[in-house]
Amino acid sequence: MNFGSLAKEYGTPLYVYNFNYFKEQYEKLKNAFSGRKSLLAYAIKANSNLSVVKHFGELGSGADCVSIGEVRRALKAGIKPYKIIFSGVGKRDDEIKEAIESDILFINAESEGELKRIEAIAKELGKEARISLRVNPNIDAKTHPYISTGLSENKFGVSIDEAKKLYLYAHKSNNLNPVGIHFHIGSQLTKLEPILESSKIVADLVRNLAKINIDIKFFDVGGGLGVKYNNESTIEPYDYAQAILSTLSGLDVTIVCEPGRFLVANGGYFITKVLYEKKSDSKRFVIVDGGMNDLIRPSLYNAYHKIEVLGKERDAGSVVDVVGPVCESGDFLAKNIELPQTIHNDLLVVHSSGAYGFVMSSNYNTRARPAEVALIDDKPKLIRKRESFEDIIALEEEFIQE
Ligand code: LLP
Repeated sequence: MNFGSLAKEYGTPLYVYNFNYFKEQYEKLKNAFSGRKSLLAYAIKANSNLSVVKHFGELGSGADCVSIGEVRRALKAGIKPYKIIFSGVGKRDDEIKEAIESDILFINAESEGELKRIEAIAKELGKEARISLRVNPNIDAKTHPYISTGLSENKFGVSIDEAKKLYLYAHKSNNLNPVGIHFHIGSQLTKLEPILESSKIVADLVRNLAKINIDIKFFDVGGGLGVKYNNESTIEPYDYAQAILSTLSGLDVTIVCEPGRFLVANGGYFITKVLYEKKSDSKRFVIVDGGMNDLIRPSLYNAYHKIEVLGKERDAGSVVDVVGPVCESGDFLAKNIELPQTIHNDLLVVHSSGAYGFVMSSNYNTRARPAEVALIDDKPKLIRKRESFEDIIALEEEFIQE
């Protein structure tokens, strides 16, 4: 990967994605479930660029969506409705209506209130909505609290007891068809045990439902498979799949999995240029042209992303904070890492930036968002133009006093 020439051609800050890596990750996970009916529904929130979604669609992937905007993106990228799932804790009426009309695989309901809204809207449309319930197995996923979702203190899903009641209700309804069950206990999971425990609990519920003739066809295990940012030990796809499969004996279900980060994180790079070096009494700073508005993970979660200076990867370094130009002390890409001495226009490569990078960017400080480039067999293709000042203000109207 020649980041130098990419930076020259497309400017910085810049996101670069290795599409070949995306494909390898997809196939690794898909193969782990081989021999069983399975659907990988890429969680497009992780990186929703149309070309990225299309790439996964062409590999056979479905899409896990959390807004009607994401459902539209998935459809626009060519993903078939019967491979699209609509999740999320708070869906609006218009979103539910459009999802039912689009005839997607199922809507994941997350509360009694939402289930009843789906029923009412389906009734108005004279349709039967395929649904799944997100159950909260009350298991500690042992990940960052902001991305842990499987405890009863989190806002997601319904308890196992409530789920039983709601499945019975849905089963009796003329406008609901309960086809699936769903759980997702958190993101960046690096321990197998909580996944295994949750899967056991949810599979038991499916067996209990079968006894009362509620036949669940889709067993949706959510996403969350963690990746290496630093030296974490991660879960192998094969072990992940085996753990889930071990809980499903006697059940004839299609396994649905919603990976985001696993597919894209380590195939993405954020390239930013050094503007200045500066020293205070106590600290050395490298000031770069990419900031928290472009890549917020370090500021928001204190997340670690490996950073290298292009062409100086093996040079000796000293301790430094890598900071952006945004007017916040929280604007940093790394704190207290070792980097060699840099000069104006050196390029920094920020690794593992393919997931929750560009998608969480903003125009804070009226900064135009970066361009995105795909590498396919090492050939670059621009998949999102760099924003201009005009793009940023396009929807604003000048206030004129009458
Ligand atoms: N399914 C559901 C219902 C989810 O809520 C999520 C992620 C996924 C699948 C995909 O999870 P993944 O495989 O990517 O772990 N912005 C945070 C991550 C937030 C994840 C939200 N939900 C970060 O940068 O770490």
